[in-house]
Amino acid sequence: MDIQQATTQITQATSLKALEDLRIHYLGQSGEVTKQLQALGQLPPEERKARGAELNQIKTQLQTVITAQKTKLEEAELAAQLAEQAVDVTLPASPHFVGRIHPLTAAMEEIAAALKTLGFVHAYGPEVETDDYNFTKLNLPAHHPARQDQDTFYLNPFNTDGHKYLLRTQTSNVQVRTLEAHQPPFRVMGIGRVYRRDYDLTHTPQFHQVEGMMVEKGTNFAHMKGVLTEFLRLFFGKSLKTRIRPHYFPFTEPSAEMDMECQACKGQGCRVCKHSGWVEILGCGMVHRNVLAVGGLKVDEHPGFAFGAGVERLAMLKYGVPDLRLFFESHAAFVQQYGKPPVAAS
Ligand code: DAH
Repeated sequence: MDIQQATTQITQATSLKALEDLRIHYLGQSGEVTKQLQALGQLPPEERKARGAELNQIKTQLQTVITAQKTKLEEAELAAQLAEQAVDVTLPASPHFVGRIHPLTAAMEEIAAALKTLGFVHAYGPEVETDDYNFTKLNLPAHHPARQDQDTFYLNPFNTDGHKYLLRTQTSNVQVRTLEAHQPPFRVMGIGRVYRRDYDLTHTPQFHQVEGMMVEKGTNFAHMKGVLTEFLRLFFGKSLKTRIRPHYFPFTEPSAEMDMECQACKGQGCRVCKHSGWVEILGCGMVHRNVLAVGGLKVDEHPGFAFGAGVERLAMLKYGVPDLRLFFESHAAFVQQYGKPPVAAS
């Protein structure tokens, strides 16, 4: 066996596979060196020792060369891999979009924050409601004509528990539920989804309302006007002008509607306000005695006021959203344009 030749072969191996083949060829179980070591026993005893020492030295030498070559090849392979996977840090980064808060969500958060400042706390009413809570207990008995103003989605007409179920047409059910469950004084707000069978440019079958009710000894119409004006100023801005007009709602007496100065033209008159300078913004009134009676309250002892407004309308006027349907079409570009930047994570 030519040790010189073996060493040359090993140092010239260009792959780990070729190197392993050479190792097997020389040092493997039936490799050349191994075979010679195994044949030592057949040598005459006087030659055996010297030959044995020589073969072991060859074996160690080849092992050393193989290990060195292996390290060299592995390093080369790693270097090649790194070169292949190298990242060009001078390339421009891929675009990075930060999501925005949907204008409806933003509006509901801002409405709640404004009302919270004025002492209102969240109250609840279900979206699947009985006509008792949606109408009757709000002073709209079975054949009251105003029921027809709110095109109602009725559910399971064949229910057996004696209740007529529907999708609530207004958040005013929150009033009834609060009156039944709590003792005054209270200031509550209910913000959520409502449903009506209506679909055109300015109506969607599902939309959102905010409802408020304050019942407290000594509450009067002037308190209502003050609280609602302050609410709108907190939401739209300090200098907002408001006015109040008589109106009719079955659940309040007296009832009113509040208008605010058109934000698009600052009261000058434009398309948004139909050139009047004012836009209608909420319904309100002193809680009707028949409604208070649901909670066992008397109008002379525990007067209160209530109000209701459309969240989409508030959001459209505040953020300048031109079309109601945009809220429900899930276009990312809409949220990007009219949404609110998220609060930066700290
Ligand atoms: N529920 C009314 C509607 O959907 C809005 C409303 C008006 C609510 C006057 C009230 C209120 O609480 O006092 O049109």
